[in-house]
Amino acid sequence: MAIKRRTFLKGSIAAGAFYASGFPHVWIKDHSQAYAADGEIKVGVLFSLTGTTGIIEESLNKATLLAIEEINDAGGINGMKIVPIVEDPASDPATFAEKARKLVLGDRCVSVFGSYTSASRKAVLPVFEKRKNLYWYPTLYEGRECSKNVIYTGAVPNQQQDEFVPWLFEKFGKRWYLIGSNYIYPKEENNYCKKLLAGLGGEVVNEEYVPLGHSEFSSVINKFRNEKPDVIFSTVVGDSVVALHRQYRAAGLDPETMPMASLTTSENEVAAMGGDAAAGHFTSAPYFMVWESPENEAFVRAYRDRWGKDKVTHFVSEPSYFQVYMFKQAVEKLAPSDITPDNIREAVKGVELTAPQGPVRLDPATLHTYLWPKIGVCKSDGQFEILQQSSEWLEPVPYKAYPNQVCTENGLSEV
Ligand code: ACM
Repeated sequence: MAIKRRTFLKGSIAAGAFYASGFPHVWIKDHSQAYAADGEIKVGVLFSLTGTTGIIEESLNKATLLAIEEINDAGGINGMKIVPIVEDPASDPATFAEKARKLVLGDRCVSVFGSYTSASRKAVLPVFEKRKNLYWYPTLYEGRECSKNVIYTGAVPNQQQDEFVPWLFEKFGKRWYLIGSNYIYPKEENNYCKKLLAGLGGEVVNEEYVPLGHSEFSSVINKFRNEKPDVIFSTVVGDSVVALHRQYRAAGLDPETMPMASLTTSENEVAAMGGDAAAGHFTSAPYFMVWESPENEAFVRAYRDRWGKDKVTHFVSEPSYFQVYMFKQAVEKLAPSDITPDNIREAVKGVELTAPQGPVRLDPATLHTYLWPKIGVCKSDGQFEILQQSSEWLEPVPYKAYPNQVCTENGLSEV
């Protein structure tokens, strides 16, 4: 992972040499209350290993652990080891909240890396806000959140849709069918999509939501047949993505004339469904596994060496990986006795590093991340061909669908 030189010099070499030398005047008032003690920094790793989103969250767990191991193998953070405490919240928001409380209150983790669905992020949010802890969330999501207790490293709607929707409209046409899983994320993404589509003169022929974990798409596919939309815009998540694609293909529908355009279908779901089921469909994301950069080559190699030669990386595992390096850069700036969630948040503001997708930056005002939107088409080998990349990193605008609200350093502001 390449660190931007300016930040690296500030955050790593200077502070690292100082604190790692065992500087004798570092004094922790009350060891039982310290977050960094006995050369260890505890963090929580809260991704589902079972249940309907286990299909994707298991890979976020692996990417997080890989980054932690790499950092520890390279000497830790100022000589201190990161100790991951792994919990399996089983794709259940209530279990997420229970495990988050355990990690924050019981284990006294200074930060927790976790969640794929917005439902699970919303479930843990009160724990992190009440206890003034820090949740590192790597997943694309609907925006419309402005918490001092979450670091957001996945894409928000403007970063996935601003280039994708006009591109699809131009290429395929104006009649769109919106299909999503039934919870906050797909509804807010579709809200944003409808605004963009209306501006282009497009038309929504149907908007439909299926329960999380849904696996029987025959009636949906009949509606695709009857409505004949130009684009099927999908925000279906988890193992439903696999079922939807396989049943679409089995029904003999053709991506050339009725493509699915997804914000949630990555190499990971494609590996589960088989490349043939996904071939010809489109995804918008800041990262694809085939992206050519030295940082991505190193990431893919390390991930496969650690977890298996057949494993894939994707647009949620990549931020799961680089956000641990952002955490490192922030913690590196702090003396051991100053390592607290609040201080880490302040220290991570404005941090830049060269991630596998390209240079990324944590926006100090919103705690969201500047990213590089790309459009890819899936091929039968299960990889995407990148058709387009944004010409510059794109600012995250989490409230873009709500122009009278702005996320600022002081919280949500009405304008
Ligand atoms: C999501 O629920 N943010 C994919």
